[in-house]
Amino acid sequence: MNVQTSRGGEQVGIAYDETHRVWLLRTPHSAYAVACPSSVTVHHQEIPDPLLHVYWGEPVTLADAVHIGTVKRQRWSRRGFESPLDGAEEYPVRGGIRFGRAALAARFGATRSIEWRLVGSNTTRDGDTHQLTVEFADGPLHLALHYRIRADTDVIERWAVVTNTGDTPIELDRFDSATWTVPEADEYRLSHLSGRWSAETQLRHQILTDGEFVIGSRRGTTSHQANPWYAIDDGSATEESGTVYSGALAWSGVWQLATQKLSHGGVQVLGGVGHDGFGPYRLAPGESLTAPVFAGLYTADGFGGASRAWHAYQLRHVMPNPDADRPVLYNSWEATGFDVNEENQKALAARAASIGCELFVMDDGWFGARVDDHAGLGDWTVNPERFPNGLAPLIDEVHRLGMDFGIWVEPEMVNPDSDLYREHPDWVYHFADRTRHTMRNQLVLNLARPDVADWLYDRIDALLSDHDIQFVKWDMNRPFTEAGWPAETDNPERLWLDHVHNLYAVLDRLRAKHPGVAFESCSGGGARIDMGILARTDQVWTSDNTDAPDRLIIQHGYSQVYPARAMSCWVTDVPNFLDPRTVPLRYRFHAAMAGVLGVGGDLSEWSDADLAEATDLIAEYKTVRTIVQHGQLYRLRPPSPGLSAVQYVAPDRSEAVVLAYLGAQRFGERPPLLRLAGLDPHARYRVDGVDDPLTGAALHGFGLPLRLNGDYDSTLLHLTRVGD
Ligand code: GLA
Repeated sequence: MNVQTSRGGEQVGIAYDETHRVWLLRTPHSAYAVACPSSVTVHHQEIPDPLLHVYWGEPVTLADAVHIGTVKRQRWSRRGFESPLDGAEEYPVRGGIRFGRAALAARFGATRSIEWRLVGSNTTRDGDTHQLTVEFADGPLHLALHYRIRADTDVIERWAVVTNTGDTPIELDRFDSATWTVPEADEYRLSHLSGRWSAETQLRHQILTDGEFVIGSRRGTTSHQANPWYAIDDGSATEESGTVYSGALAWSGVWQLATQKLSHGGVQVLGGVGHDGFGPYRLAPGESLTAPVFAGLYTADGFGGASRAWHAYQLRHVMPNPDADRPVLYNSWEATGFDVNEENQKALAARAASIGCELFVMDDGWFGARVDDHAGLGDWTVNPERFPNGLAPLIDEVHRLGMDFGIWVEPEMVNPDSDLYREHPDWVYHFADRTRHTMRNQLVLNLARPDVADWLYDRIDALLSDHDIQFVKWDMNRPFTEAGWPAETDNPERLWLDHVHNLYAVLDRLRAKHPGVAFESCSGGGARIDMGILARTDQVWTSDNTDAPDRLIIQHGYSQVYPARAMSCWVTDVPNFLDPRTVPLRYRFHAAMAGVLGVGGDLSEWSDADLAEATDLIAEYKTVRTIVQHGQLYRLRPPSPGLSAVQYVAPDRSEAVVLAYLGAQRFGERPPLLRLAGLDPHARYRVDGVDDPLTGAALHGFGLPLRLNGDYDSTLLHLTRVGD
């Protein structure tokens, strides 16, 4: 066993008490402790080497952790019909005296019951990054549990690696990344994100009752319906105060987060790849399987504090090029639909450039026989009727106008009516004797196949090599059905994981070869938003729903975990395709300015007054976008029919931006004073429209009167610290 010994535990890092076999992970504002005693007694029997959860919360010392571990074990229930291991372990498995949900369930040799022995542990340090690995084995089944912490975040990354060291396959029924144990509380309130197409990431809260509550995706992608994030508090946390335990899974395929409240009151959250229809996954002799990161976060500063910590973590440690500001884009989808051609795109580009857009994105319809959603997916060659001279004239014109050029692709898909499908009907997920059901008239390519993954890389590489393209909108417009791979008889279930691994690998290869190209993850709007895809994309398309009042609700949920720097938002026309309401252009802009601003309306129909107003608002956005995209988010008031507002504070607190929205005025009353947050209380700030600078304390404690009235009125306020 290779154990690095250190004492204390007051500083960021990993401390170990060799006598009691307790590790303490110290992040800047939290501590996390686990213990692996040589044995514990369960129903009068010695169970060797159990890895027990000891502590998670505000910083404690290693001595505290040792004490807490001992006291917790003294308090274990000795009742019959129960196992004290349930709810107490870091990574519960199927086997032995355990009745809770298992993070790992395996069939190997003649058994389905795991009996671990600790076979190794070590802590390593690489600069400000510290890692703990604890390893177990039971015959051919080997498990490594990993923990990673860093000096600039309270996020703890956990994942697991399982290896078959034997000479016959091992079958995995379940293989989670980690299990997070929530400290004892009188009540547990779960917050999570729920939705559907055009209604993604709506924030829900519910009190946990005994039993299990499962969210996840069986669709092959992250899904519109649920997002792999959760938060648990005791029901008393507010936006800016109180203890919140949250977690997020970095995965873009089928997944599951299961919250279990045990009868003795404890709560654990198990999370990982795979849905309930998944498995067994056959691990071949010598094969290892690495689960994605399931990250956890303790914060004492309420839901807002948790969100800011998640945002900072992703900007620092997950996303590529996080320091770059994202440009203002124009996207043609809502203007021209599938009817794109050189002429109409050039006309839109001219208008987009004239109002200040910096990136022109041509959406669906430029390739193959794609004139509607019945044909063409898979044939990534330029449509010669629509673009008789190829894409170069349009791209050159977009560049001449001073904008970057972006293009839409949906490479994981194929229409049955396509040359690709006629040539390779076996390249889609299917079962030999079953219907290949289409959705949106398309089938899913079997990206788990290495030849399909190579083909896909080559197609997009060729597109990017042959054209001067700076941005790719990578779409994915249907879930998996009939997810079969007839030729793969050894381990047919591997496709659920390999699809995602190959997608990630293709994106990584494309990014490495074309470092000047930015990528947007889209899946019919927001069905592929997660920390796995954010590690290799620059932004995500939040939702196909661009109605501003709806969008504020979607953005509120999104912002619980994901940063504004990645949240792509468009200003589109009213009424939009979902709702007949009319919303002023200014309000639509202010809603979209809360993230990465884009425009998606049909600019050929915009009046001169609209274009002039848009020009001013885009120019204003450019003056504040660094604060919006890189600042700290304070959700001052959640979306409501009345007043709602968000605020972004520059990291050095020298500037802030407030976006406030009045849904409807009632009874002729003024909107309430808007109390700000996150400013330096002692500094004075100049606020647009207010004569005298006010201290941060006054802006926090008293607030700002807003000149908003009527329906759908909105404002953007830019605060600057006086004296800088
Ligand atoms: C999806 C996307 C849209 C658009 C269309 C094109 O629905 O979410 O933004 O790109 O596909 O077919």
